[in-house]
Amino acid sequence: MAAGLRLPWSCGMGGCGACTVRRVSGDVVMQEPNCLSAAERGAGDTLTCVGYAAGPLTLELRP
Ligand code: FES
Repeated sequence: MAAGLRLPWSCGMGGCGACTVRRVSGDVVMQEPNCLSAAERGAGDTLTCVGYAAGPLTLELRP
């Protein structure tokens, strides 16, 4: 968002899932607890409102 991207969001605190994107490559650190299930995390789902890139990162926005 700081770079001018239009990203979906609602609660801004990891509780609703509105900001979920798919991590294609790289690592993300997310504040805990948050609303993602273990299965969603395993599939690469990432919450941009509480996630921080831990290096080079590629994310896929949902349509
Ligand atoms: S905006 Fe609600 S979880 Fe990110």
